[in-house]
Amino acid sequence: MFRVTVAGLLMGVAALAATPTFNKDVLPILQKHCQGCHRPGEIAPMSLLSYTEARPWAKSMKAAVVSEKMPPWFADPKYGHFANDRRLSAAELATISGWVDAGAPEGNLKDAPPPLKFQDGWNIKPDMIIEMPKDFQVKATGTINYQNILVKAHFDEDKWVVAAEMRPGNAKVVHHMRAIVRPPSSTWLASAVPGEAYEEGSEAMGGAKDGTDLLGKYNPGLGAQSFDVDGSAKFIPKGSDIVFNIHYTSVGTPQTDRSKVGLVFAKVPPKNRYWMSPGTPAAFNLAIPAGDSNAEVVSEVTVGVDNAKLVYIQPHMHLRGKDYEVRVTYPTGEKETVFKGKWNFDWQIGYELAKPLPVPRGTRILSIAHYDNSANNKFNPDPGKTILWGDQNWDEMQSGFLGLVVDVKTDLSKVFQPSGPSLMPRGTSGPTLSAYEATVKK
Ligand code: HEC
Repeated sequence: MFRVTVAGLLMGVAALAATPTFNKDVLPILQKHCQGCHRPGEIAPMSLLSYTEARPWAKSMKAAVVSEKMPPWFADPKYGHFANDRRLSAAELATISGWVDAGAPEGNLKDAPPPLKFQDGWNIKPDMIIEMPKDFQVKATGTINYQNILVKAHFDEDKWVVAAEMRPGNAKVVHHMRAIVRPPSSTWLASAVPGEAYEEGSEAMGGAKDGTDLLGKYNPGLGAQSFDVDGSAKFIPKGSDIVFNIHYTSVGTPQTDRSKVGLVFAKVPPKNRYWMSPGTPAAFNLAIPAGDSNAEVVSEVTVGVDNAKLVYIQPHMHLRGKDYEVRVTYPTGEKETVFKGKWNFDWQIGYELAKPLPVPRGTRILSIAHYDNSANNKFNPDPGKTILWGDQNWDEMQSGFLGLVVDVKTDLSKVFQPSGPSLMPRGTSGPTLSAYEATVKK
């Protein structure tokens, strides 16, 4: 009893002695964890660069960090370690709470860290910027199918890219987008007029996507992408063009957009190549029953090359997604969950593994996702029907963009082979893990 009182007293004294101030204690946290988004021209609705800007938000800042709504981060801390982990430490949380509870004092200006320097809009220093040559007209209402815009890039030699950043011309209407490398050998979009937008499935799309590689991605909160992991870079063959694949949403008034991608080139040719899987593993065979509040869907690939390392995981689902797990089964039979997290459609975050994970030839990479197709899911566009794979938000997807580092000589078509549940015919649900395992036992 006595000891508790003394301890309580001491804690009170310590807290009194160290009332956090904005300049000394809070600003460094905002610089590290918040200003990437909370500054003019970025995706967050208000700036948190200065005391004057942050002060009115003090109470909501506390609420947002205590509830873990901010910074957005969905990985279950029990699995894996990630280089881009945005979470606040317990000490940082306590500092923000303590500062708000103390009336959010400004403190002494000379305690403030120097302001961060931001590159004119870009988070990288691009050596080259590739922009859509003309505006895309975004209609005021209705659904807009995925648009594909071929942009002449004039790469007059082979290039190695260590970082890429996509920036929307008009963030209000760009839901998400990708920049895809189309090598000169590819027949994909062969008859497309550069700068014109083509809908998925239209005739000009033509040809297979053979040899293409995902270069850059944009969705709110994703930021720039680095391909320099252990001296690796992304390869762009001489003569390649860039395809912008954009999902626009209409906002009630006509809008225009002209988006761009910035690239940083490697100074020396790398040993390893950074390859992004084109949304695999994927469950093209998925079926999510009407009304099911916890429908499971699994998909799998098997690694078909030597010396590959997994470095990046970005799950992808639509409005019914709940959670996503990546489970690796090594050729030895040993199993490991390398990522598990809640799904949030608004924040399609990518997770950079803190340490590259070797995935030897024969390793199976299984993704396990769950969906809420019931009426209790407030985002569910229609709980009354079975949902299949499709591009639109009211259809579903179950896929992962996995980043791998491979030897530069690797045949990319062999890196991932669909396997296991991904080869099952479509049923009325799933494919689920238990349904797949039942077929193996037979
Ligand atoms: C990856 C970008 C990003 C980061 C990092 C980020 N925010 Fe935000 N924040 C947003 C966006 C976008 C919104 C508005 C949409 C929303 O509320 O989800 C927002 C909203 C907020 C709100 C309003 C919440 C509400 O309930 O209305 C607060 C407060 C906030 N952020 C504080 C913070 C603080 C404090 C940090 C750092 C510890 C932080 N944010 C980090 C993007 C970000």
